[in-house]
Amino acid sequence: MAIQWFPGHMHSTRKAIGERIKDIDVVIELLDARLPGSSANPLLAELTGHRPTLKVLNKQDVADATRTPAWLDWYNARADTRAIGLDASDTAPARRLIDACRQLAPQRGGMAKPMRVLICGIPNVGKSTLINTLTGKTQAKTGDEAGITKLEQRIVLDDDFYLWDTPGMLWPRITIPESGYKLAASGAVGRNAYDEEEVALELLAYLQRHYAPLLDARYRLGLDAAAIAALHDDELLTLIARKRGAVMSGGRVNLQKAAELVMTDFRSAILGRITLETPPEFEAWSAAAQVQ
Ligand code: G4P
Repeated sequence: MAIQWFPGHMHSTRKAIGERIKDIDVVIELLDARLPGSSANPLLAELTGHRPTLKVLNKQDVADATRTPAWLDWYNARADTRAIGLDASDTAPARRLIDACRQLAPQRGGMAKPMRVLICGIPNVGKSTLINTLTGKTQAKTGDEAGITKLEQRIVLDDDFYLWDTPGMLWPRITIPESGYKLAASGAVGRNAYDEEEVALELLAYLQRHYAPLLDARYRLGLDAAAIAALHDDELLTLIARKRGAVMSGGRVNLQKAAELVMTDFRSAILGRITLETPPEFEAWSAAAQVQ
């Protein structure tokens, strides 16, 4: 099942970006450091008229620290693009964002030519949290339900540095199936657009191959990495259900409950620091999706 999600207000965001972009010097795209490829909007360059772009890999505190540098290199290798990692514990995010944007548009600056920056990102990526940190206020709404940030706003970060916020945004068609599952697992996609059990199985299939020791530690499976990798994903979900007490009367396992547990454990990072894709994997999925 392909995951599709493009609520009405995201259509209007797309329109709003189109109208705003002519007065913008740099675009900041906030990405989820746990899925730095899948959380990027493939239409962004087209929507923003190929403006210089700062990719901010947010939530790096919960991403796999051994994978984030490869993703930063991958983005930094592109023309007119810079990438930095960030998380909510960063005490000087404004300084780092301002410096990176100034490098991308050195011709802008001073009261006569203020830097005009647009910030965008998919729902739940941490945009409201970052904006609240930048402004020191609680003006942007935050919440765990995808798509809750709805109002456009302008933020003054420096005398000559303006930041425009846009509501969260996905794209009309999620063309890479793997990305759809990862976006759903991360909480970027509205709950009614996917089946939790199906997404949890896809998530587990990836974790089995790449993060088996974390699964063993969290669910006390008592199995080594090879044994965990050899399990069929629904066998693994069943095992997790039993270990976590997701059992109904009569002893039948509650797979739906187990799926919810796995997703919550991933989202809250109770499972550990995880990144669901590497640049070569993402490139391979993108290439396969283009062939179809
Ligand atoms: P959005 O505006 O892009 O939709 O996202 P928002 O700021 O509402 O953040 C979504 C969730 O991500 C929030 O958690 C927020 O606390 C969390 N978050 C934001 N930035 C970071 C970060 O750098 N690291 C980590 N680990 N989490 C981050 P929540 O569960 O919805 O709410 P709460 O935990 O704040 O109560």
